[in-house]
Amino acid sequence: MAHLNFSDFYTVPNLKFDIGRLRTDLDLVLKKRKFQSPGVTNFGAISLNQIPNDENSTKGNNVRGIYWTIPDETGKEVKRDIPIDESKYTQLVPEFKKTYFEEVYETLKKKFKLGRVRLLLKEPRSTLSWHKDPEPRLHIPIITNKGCAMVIENVAKHLPADGNVTITNNTKYHNFFNGGEQDRIHLVACVLENPFK
Ligand SMILES: [Fe+2]
Repeated sequence: MAHLNFSDFYTVPNLKFDIGRLRTDLDLVLKKRKFQSPGVTNFGAISLNQIPNDENSTKGNNVRGIYWTIPDETGKEVKRDIPIDESKYTQLVPEFKKTYFEEVYETLKKKFKLGRVRLLLKEPRSTLSWHKDPEPRLHIPIITNKGCAMVIENVAKHLPADGNVTITNNTKYHNFFNGGEQDRIHLVACVLENPFK
């Protein structure tokens, strides 16, 4: 039997955040800001960073961004949504100032070349589309359950909410499902230098 190969899931060594503080400050932020779900069911996003002094950069299609998907039995790939100028997202959104997220953002920025950073909500008993993105993504699970998994091509992996940071190869076809009965919330950042190449 072939062994599973998790090479598209890269756990960053020597980097671990405080899951308790992430959860406490998530609650604080959620009192001030609500998840947006522009045109997609069972999904929500809150932007953690923005284009400097440009509030519109965290609204509408800007919380989603371009992706490719295979929507039907023809197997034909189609492009959806709009390209995003990721490298312009350099300023923390005011609601996150003086929270633990500011510390997390500054730490990540020193280590990686980042684009947008968002809190992403996946509702219970839901999946994304089968799709690929322009760049890898960095995940810090904050609230999850055993029934949550990221699937990249034919390999599925549960990412526990233990403060660890995992970079996933979203340039390959993938999905995320939440098979639990509780919302799943991850911090997700676009990573502009591809470690999988
Ligand atoms: Fe994706």
